Amino acid sequence: MNNLPTPPEPSLSRFQQTLRFIKEPYGFLARTRAECGEIFTLRLLGMGKWVFLCNVQALNELYKLPEEQVLAGEIRKKLVAYLFGSRASVSLDGPEYSERRRVIMPFFGGRRVFQHTGLLHRLTEEKLMRWPIDEAFQLQPHLNEISLEASSRILFGPLDQDPATLLVPYARRFLVALRPSSVQSRPLQWDLGRWSPYGRFLIARRELYGALDTVISALQRRRAFDEVDPEPEDVLSALMAAELYEDAEDCREAIVHEMTALVVGGAETTSKVLAWTLLGVLSHRQIFDRLRQELDDGLGERPIRTEDLRRLHYLHAVIQEGMRFQSVGPFAGPRIAKQDIQICGYRIAAGTPLAQCLQEVGRSDFFPNPEQFDPENFLDRKIKASDWSPFGGGTRLCAGMGLAQLELAVVVGTLVQRLDLELGSSSTEPTRAGITYQPANGLSVIVRRRRF
Ligand code: HEM
Repeated sequence: MNNLPTPPEPSLSRFQQTLRFIKEPYGFLARTRAECGEIFTLRLLGMGKWVFLCNVQALNELYKLPEEQVLAGEIRKKLVAYLFGSRASVSLDGPEYSERRRVIMPFFGGRRVFQHTGLLHRLTEEKLMRWPIDEAFQLQPHLNEISLEASSRILFGPLDQDPATLLVPYARRFLVALRPSSVQSRPLQWDLGRWSPYGRFLIARRELYGALDTVISALQRRRAFDEVDPEPEDVLSALMAAELYEDAEDCREAIVHEMTALVVGGAETTSKVLAWTLLGVLSHRQIFDRLRQELDDGLGERPIRTEDLRRLHYLHAVIQEGMRFQSVGPFAGPRIAKQDIQICGYRIAAGTPLAQCLQEVGRSDFFPNPEQFDPENFLDRKIKASDWSPFGGGTRLCAGMGLAQLELAVVVGTLVQRLDLELGSSSTEPTRAGITYQPANGLSVIVRRRRF
């Protein structure tokens, strides 16, 4: 292995690389790929040396490596513990990680997920009925609300009080407090209480954790009354029933961290994908019209149902294209090499973090029209996860993949079916908004008419 080359680096100083990566990450990664090839090294101040993987073969090789060779939790903890706490599954490895996945995954699979189609439809309907007619407004905040409410209701199950009413205001404040770039930059994370952005973020995080703790106590009281929950129906009940650690305080902390990651992380990504997908659809009248036609032919005036999803091929293609055309972060799903490893003929030294560059992977000529937003990229062909996966892969495949795809289909399908919608002044430039990227200037739209 020592004879193998290491991934090339761009001809820029460490300082220049860092500056460009901060200023314009997507453009910089695309240019570096053009200069260095699909696997390259960057040296970033404050982050060190990272290897970026921009082709599907490299990702498939990465996903197959065992835990002795690459770990995910160890590096993710460094990046996201300030957001979700250090005990969420995203920051774990080894048996602790496997046990957590075993508990949460049953709630994200086929049948369990599909029972939420009606809820997602009702939530979207409730929101769209309140939007103004013939007046431009920002859609992104409404999409954020739909995703947050959906996560709160689905992941928490029924309580005496609506979990969305209990949690959404705190989750919203947490996300707003996360916006300033200094909050996400380790050297600028100064806790000066209300006097610094990071201090304000910590207060919002404490309040969100407190709200989650209240929900857990409410559920504990109900369980004490009802005896043990024989078959948990939602993630929160399952985490509580699993008794993850011997110490009750450890259990409680792990549940708060896990639920924060699932609710906030899941809603952040899904709502941004919704915005990028709708921007693509509304920027191309013929795509909007074709999708509308498919929905009218297949559903008429009735709401979308689970059994429709298999037949709505164009809707499926639109959603896949939304995720391909613009990924919500310049890189995703990092890992760290624990030994010297080999990927696509390159040697990657032990201790090097690796990043999946899904935006660049999606630009491959595997797609007939990679540079345009074009659902034809996904029509009339069977695409396997080993050809393309916006949800990563291997043992760390996105936990919420099933739920996210359902939410995307129901929300996009319902909006296109029910609204004559036009684009206001929106830009296709990605701009950082918290931990993900959204269209610059938000997503300005105009509703001309609500149908039926
Ligand atoms: C369209 C929306 C979404 C996209 C594009 C997305 C994408 C991803 C990607 C690329 C990863 C990294 C996978 C890897 O390392 O190989 C990931 C991880 C994860 N996602 Fe998602 N995700 C979405 C929605 C959600 C939702 C709704 C939830 C939960 C409700 C969720 C929960 C998670 C968790 C817990 C992980 C960490 C998995 C681990 O480390 O084991 N995601 N997601």
